[in-house]
Order: sequence, then structure tokens, then C-alpha cells
Amino acid sequence: MIKALSYVVVHTPHLAEWLKMAGEHIGMQVEIVQPGECARLRVDEKVQRFVLQAVDGESSMVMGLEASDAAAFAQAREALQGAGYETRPGSGEEIALRGVADLFHFADPDGCRVEVALGLQDAATPFVPGRPLGGFRTGDMGLGHVAFITPHFEAMCHLYKEVLQFKVSDYTSVPFRVEFLHVNPRHHTLGIAYTGGPRTLYHLMLEYNDFDDLGRAHDLALENPESIGVTLGRHINDHVTSFYLKNPDGWMLELGWAARTIGPDWQVEELSGMSLWGHDRTWLPADKREHARQILKDLSKRGLRAPVVTTSQTAKVSQ
Ligand SMILES: [Fe+2]
Repeated sequence: MIKALSYVVVHTPHLAEWLKMAGEHIGMQVEIVQPGECARLRVDEKVQRFVLQAVDGESSMVMGLEASDAAAFAQAREALQGAGYETRPGSGEEIALRGVADLFHFADPDGCRVEVALGLQDAATPFVPGRPLGGFRTGDMGLGHVAFITPHFEAMCHLYKEVLQFKVSDYTSVPFRVEFLHVNPRHHTLGIAYTGGPRTLYHLMLEYNDFDDLGRAHDLALENPESIGVTLGRHINDHVTSFYLKNPDGWMLELGWAARTIGPDWQVEELSGMSLWGHDRTWLPADKREHARQILKDLSKRGLRAPVVTTSQTAKVSQ
């Protein structure tokens, strides 16, 4: 029904800072739509993967989920309506700005807008990264993954698993409940967490094709260590090597490399931690950081390791 996270729409009071980070640091291609008001960011051949819109108030992020085809688009709308969600068609202006064939939107159990889109146009020009790099891993795996905290955990899991037919990848209940869900070979497209706290957008993961491009993003982040919200590490479930960069709105972009893919033979697992090593969450209270360190030490004593599997590295060596 849903085949991928296709794009996101970010409403931000810090548009200029976002554009600088996106182009110079992460290496996305910036296309100004309306100076000071609106921009589109590219990471691949598609016309956009981020729509940035300036706002005066609080920042927010809208997920754009891509339906598999026209039948799936209609099926998703019917399923949502059948489950009691009110769906509204996108405006002509919204459809044009995103470069999709059609879209509708609804409010999730936290009241946050979610878009379901049909198609996403290729751009008329090749992708030109904001700094030299080997591109981002998207294709049939979509833009990346999103993780958020919700006070309506059961309703949110029902929405994505039962109504929109996402499949469980794995889950944990320690230190809090998280379910990781997939719709394509990307290990997870959504991470839904319950901490007892309010709705909080945690991060959006983008994956580089090349390890060296992640390393260079990390070098740039080290020029401003405060910008690193989670240090370099490797996740226990999708095996991605990554660090988390605070964006100008305070939530984070996880920049990663070599996440594993999963197939139809996937077995759902309960996780024994969040990371194999690293990933010190600099924003956590001291006792929780120490607890996380103990989990890593225990995993280390057990010798838990995972192979690095990547088919995305670009072969060309630039002089
Ligand atoms: Fe992540």
C-alpha cells in the first residue's frame, strides 16, 4: 500500500540556517523556490526530497508517504476513512510544489499532518550535491527513516500497522517502548516510541552511499561539537553506522552509512539494546547515559558483532 517515505515538508523559523546546513554540511542540493520563504532540497534524481517553508512560530515536519500505485493510493484513503481518519485532498499548489501526481493528507493520533502521495517526479537536471560526494542511498528504500515519540502509542501503532499495513521489524521495551516498522527493504521507515512524554520529533535518517562522505560530515560537525546530539556509533538493528546532527530547529538528522536491508524472510526480534557501540546521547541525563554505557559494555563482553554489508559504495576514486 505504502512503498516508502518519499519526502518531508519542514516548517521552520530558521530557513537560512537550514539551507546552509543542508547544502554545505550534509551535501544536499538547494533549490530556492521563493527567497526567504520556500526552498526545495534534493538528494537524488527526484525533484525534491525536502520542502522547506519559513514560518514565524514553532517548527514542524510533515511526512510524505508514497503509495505504491493509483490503486494503493485509493486503498490507503479508504482504509484511513474506514478507521475514522478524515482525509483531505492536497491543493493544486501543494501538489505542484512537491512535484507529485496527487496527494491527500490526514491528522495522525497526535494531530500531526501526514501526507500520502502518488508519484514523485524526476528533476529535469542531474543531482548536483552541495559538496562533492557519492550521493545518498534512496531508490526503492525511499528517503530514509523517521523516529518520533508519541503519547498515543497504541493508536499510532494501530494506524501504521493495521490501517497502512507497515510491518514490524523489531521492538524493545527497555529503556522505553519502541516499535520499528518497514514497508520496503530499508530495515525501518518508522520508529515509534513511547516514553511517557509529549509528541516529539526525534530524528530523520539520511544514508550516504560512501563511508568517506559520512566521515567528512562528521569532521564538519566536530568543528561545532555542540551540534552532535548522538555521537558516532552503530545501531544494533539496522546496523547503520551514524551520528546525529542537531538541525537549526533542535530535532536531529541521523547521518548514516551501510544500513542493512531486509527481505520477506525477516524474523521479528526483541532488541537487547539500541547500539552495538557508540551513540552516546549527549542530551540524556547523566544516569541514563551511564545506563546506556553499561548496556554497551555488556554487549561488548558478549562479543556481539554484525557484518558490514554494503552494495552502495561508489566505485570511482576521485583524484
Ligand atoms: Fe535512526
